[in-house]
Amino acid sequence: MPAAKLTIAAAFTIIRGGKIDRNARLREVALESLFITGGSGFVGRRLLAAIDPGRFGELRWLSRDPAGRAPRTAPVPARAVRGDINVPESYRALLDPGVTVLHLAAATGKAGPALQRRVNVDGTRTLLQECARAGVRRVLHVSSIAAKFPEKKHYPYARAKEEGEALVRASGLPHVILRPTIVAGPGSPVLAGLGRLASLPVLPVFGDGRTRVQPLHVDELVRMMLAVLAGDRFRGETLEIGGASIVTIEDLLLRLRRLLGRHGRRVIHLPLRPLMPLLAAVEKLLGGRLPLSAGQLYSFRYDGVAENRAPREHLEPRWGDIDAMLADSLAHE
Ligand SMILES: NC(=O)c1ccc[n+]([C@@H]2O[C@H](COP(=O)([O-])OP(=O)(O)OC[C@H]3O[C@@H](n4cnc5c(N)ncnc54)[C@H](OP(=O)(O)O)[C@@H]3O)[C@@H](O)[C@H]2O)c1
Repeated sequence: MPAAKLTIAAAFTIIRGGKIDRNARLREVALESLFITGGSGFVGRRLLAAIDPGRFGELRWLSRDPAGRAPRTAPVPARAVRGDINVPESYRALLDPGVTVLHLAAATGKAGPALQRRVNVDGTRTLLQECARAGVRRVLHVSSIAAKFPEKKHYPYARAKEEGEALVRASGLPHVILRPTIVAGPGSPVLAGLGRLASLPVLPVFGDGRTRVQPLHVDELVRMMLAVLAGDRFRGETLEIGGASIVTIEDLLLRLRRLLGRHGRRVIHLPLRPLMPLLAAVEKLLGGRLPLSAGQLYSFRYDGVAENRAPREHLEPRWGDIDAMLADSLAHE
């Protein structure tokens, strides 16, 4: 029976015999189905591994190549769907009023500006149009703390994430937007990049190194996403979420350096402003083949910290020891 019909059946149970059935709401929630984009990514794999399948109806995750990227520890009932968010025919039939969409898919890291726009803006628009057409139940959109940087001239990823957020807000769908800070944990692409920088013979720090960062462990992010789902917190809010510790980017790199066994503390401060347009120009020629992207330089320029963190216990970070979190991030998945 489709999820929508099951929901109606549950609602009927509420008034059956003129008595209120207290378990009806629970049953209705249990029948909710999840459609997850980006389930094969760094965050999505941990999310799929953490979901309690007993709490949901259908669990489906979309990937352009599910066979190649199957999450090793996905719950058994999670079904992979081959598709592309830019190709609505590949997933249209799976959306209905019983479905909650967790939208994690994005062109991240070293993808070029055109692809970042195509996936993060156009793909998000297409997905939202399909969600509205099907009348899906609610949408959890994963954005990025970079969406709030005051200037994004050389950071196409941040511009695309900001535009994606605007589309979600304008969609008219019940939604929540999460803006995680740097996400740490085994296999973290961002921490791997910072680790490469930290292991150079002399540590390059762009700018004065005092910009603040607030790494969040991937499992904390997953727990927060599940808490948002369970708490039915789909009130159109934008929630910035970060880890328990705020440190300067220089401190973070020095900690990584220590953990990587490089004990010298020699730091060279490089001018940030002239480097940004220079790197952006070289990137246009070489694509993502450089060890550092112009976008990554923004972590040295603007604070990546969560400001309006919801004062709710279940959204509070729990990973208190930043060195342990960083060490965990240097481990392979
Ligand atoms: N990692 C971080 O530090 C961080 C920080 C803040 C915010 N975020 C946000 O968190 C989300 C997840 O990030 P992540 O680090 O897990 O990313 P990731 O490892 O790069 O994974 C990207 C995911 O997007 C999917 N995808 C890309 N293009 C697609 C398309 N056209 N159609 C369908 N799926 C597509 C990929 O699936 P296939 O390749 O299998 O198709 C993959 O599952 C993203 O929205 C990102 O912006 C990440």
